[in-house]
Amino acid sequence: MEPALASRMSGFETPATIAMSMRARVLKAEGKNVISLALGQPDFLTPKIAIEGGYQAALEGKTKYPPIDGFLSLKKAIQKKFKEENGVDYALDEIMVANGVKQILFNALMATLDPEDEVIIPAPYWTSYPIMVRFLGGNPVHVVCPEKDNFVLKARQLKAAITPKTKWLILNSPSNPTGAVWTKEDLLALVEVLRINPQIWIFSDEIYEHLIFDGQRHHSLAALAPELKDRILTVNGVSKTFAMPGWRIGYAGGVKRLIRAMLKIQSNSTSGACSVSQAAATAALQYAQKEVESMKLAYDRRRKKMTAAFSAMNGISCNIPQGAFYIYPGIAGCIGKKTAQGRLIANDQDFAEALLEETYVAVVPGSAFGLSPYLRIAYAADDVVLEEACQRISQFVQELS
Ligand SMILES: Cc1ncc(COP(=O)(O)O)c(C=O)c1O
Repeated sequence: MEPALASRMSGFETPATIAMSMRARVLKAEGKNVISLALGQPDFLTPKIAIEGGYQAALEGKTKYPPIDGFLSLKKAIQKKFKEENGVDYALDEIMVANGVKQILFNALMATLDPEDEVIIPAPYWTSYPIMVRFLGGNPVHVVCPEKDNFVLKARQLKAAITPKTKWLILNSPSNPTGAVWTKEDLLALVEVLRINPQIWIFSDEIYEHLIFDGQRHHSLAALAPELKDRILTVNGVSKTFAMPGWRIGYAGGVKRLIRAMLKIQSNSTSGACSVSQAAATAALQYAQKEVESMKLAYDRRRKKMTAAFSAMNGISCNIPQGAFYIYPGIAGCIGKKTAQGRLIANDQDFAEALLEETYVAVVPGSAFGLSPYLRIAYAADDVVLEEACQRISQFVQELS
């Protein structure tokens, strides 16, 4: 008899985003000219000032175990950022640092979920939300937010999804995978519902807050609804804004008793976030605003080009998203057709697989994010690469019959 894995591992899937990238990597290793637009990872280098911050810290001996909740210097920079950029005041003991937003999410759910507790997740969603909820014994409740509503959760939908078992609502604006941005009015309508449901925590994932276009403004939920502040976990990180995904730094502001519980978990899992990365993140938050602005300009240019290219393709519709670095084109007009090599496109998974096998462009099917038939395309890649990808996809679509 073999030693067994935990029963929780059955039904524990690899996120489709990672599965698609893995398949792309295999094809690349075989020598194919693969373009991957599957991973939500900035193509830019980490700002030099952040790297120097990390390097200096390492030279100065900041290589011991870090404080579980984060270095005071970083927490002060985060406190200032929350106050000045988001209009939210957090005391230092209401702030914690972790190994990315992923660990913040894990800590928060681990600290609060009892078996069968429900977590409301607007769909399309970032794949890790439902996976992590299930992993920790909770039930994700997906609420589909259709394209006609700009992929945004409406108050009536939230109201209908709430049950006595609802423990969390997860909000993510700007959104991965759609790039949708919740307006102030959208958020205030949700606040009305949340106000009369005091048992619900709210996870406000604002990691794409700086990638917002067309003069739109990011609104932090805790600033809009101070009366709900003690139930809101305001979550952010340096992975996207500062092109620092490999440094693994995320952070959160929230009520003390929740932060304290999350820190208990963190102290027994990772002992906090990498000390050198914390120094780099501190420098980024303090000094890298110029770099953020120039990356934003590049993303905006690519966003417009990508939407124009996809809108011109037969059978594909593409709204212009207002945030993040994704487009989420609809491919209903391609369903039921056959590719040049004879593959049937019965759904978006078939489309993404055939596209990769026949043109070596990796994208992720909407089914991975809870709304089909769509594709999620990350335009966090060089302009020339994006142009080449669009040409290949356009040809692929033209040849469908
Ligand atoms: C909505 C959202 N939240 C969080 C993360 C992950 O953040 P981190 O790198 O800080 O773990 C991602 C990454 O794709 C994301 O899209």
